[in-house]
Amino acid sequence: GASAVVIYNKPGEKGPVSGTVTKPSRLPIVGPTYELGVDLVKAAKKKDGLRLRVKTDTVHGTTSSANVVADTERGDPGNVVVAGAHLDSVPAGPGINDNGTGAAVLLAIAGKIRELGKTGLRNRVRFAWWGAEEEGLRGSTHYVKSLPAAEREKIALNVNLDMLGSPNGIRAVYDGDNSTGGGTPAPAGSGAIEKMFRDYFKGRRLPVAESEFNGRSDYGPFIEKGIPSGGVATGAEGVKTAAEAKLFGGRAGKAYDPCYHAKCDRVQNVNLKLLDSNADGVAHVLQHLAETTVAVNG
Ligand code: PHE
Ligand code: ZN
Ligand code: ZN
Ligand code: ZN
Repeated sequence: GASAVVIYNKPGEKGPVSGTVTKPSRLPIVGPTYELGVDLVKAAKKKDGLRLRVKTDTVHGTTSSANVVADTERGDPGNVVVAGAHLDSVPAGPGINDNGTGAAVLLAIAGKIRELGKTGLRNRVRFAWWGAEEEGLRGSTHYVKSLPAAEREKIALNVNLDMLGSPNGIRAVYDGDNSTGGGTPAPAGSGAIEKMFRDYFKGRRLPVAESEFNGRSDYGPFIEKGIPSGGVATGAEGVKTAAEAKLFGGRAGKAYDPCYHAKCDRVQNVNLKLLDSNADGVAHVLQHLAETTVAVNG
């Protein structure tokens, strides 16, 4: 049996924003969801704020995990742009590049989204911090699978933020106009999202590469259901080529992130310049997707 509790106020305290979290009765919750909830409520207190929902029913092994989900109050609820980043890390390390970078950029954008005002938020934007990505995309999979079909159909697309500041990184836009290696065909519309990222970076004269659209992050469960997806990533355990070193700087023959899934994935492990321009790119694409009436999924 699950019990409903309010997580974003101190236990027992009532706050200005309504919402509940369904907490599993037995298992401990992993991850800083309380702190994130507090930050979100600060953003939600402002005009055109966010509505917070937390689902904590992704159980794995002896622990459970939480998805933190916040919707804009404005925007067409029948046309939802889901922007997601995984909040967990591997037990081996603190996970600052993977995925503190994506989670922090998403929180920063969530805090600013109200600035789009009345006309800028045509579509509803849903911010999602996924749990248990490292355990096999469990939080995002749970979310997509447990949504009633009618709710799932309201999701126009997913933008994923995972590893945005690899220290020896590249700027790799998800290759949404190509089928995946894993067998899931790229949903129509993924190429349009790819183009939005490419056009933005081109306008800033910033080089881009392509990242294989293989579903190896939380957009995977979305494309499996045919929901178009996109994003940008800076590379994990892969090794930088000479051509990439020419284009992006950094060192050829070395991993994009030598501290990938390791103890040394600390604050010093982030390429702040790369993170900054990628944050701009994601913010731009999300703003465009929030404003546009043109459907990317036809
Ligand atoms: N999802 C992988 C991880 O968290 C890495 C990854 C990031 C893969 C971005 C593809 C795109 O370890
Ligand atoms: Zn990881
Ligand atoms: Zn990751
Ligand atoms: Zn492409």
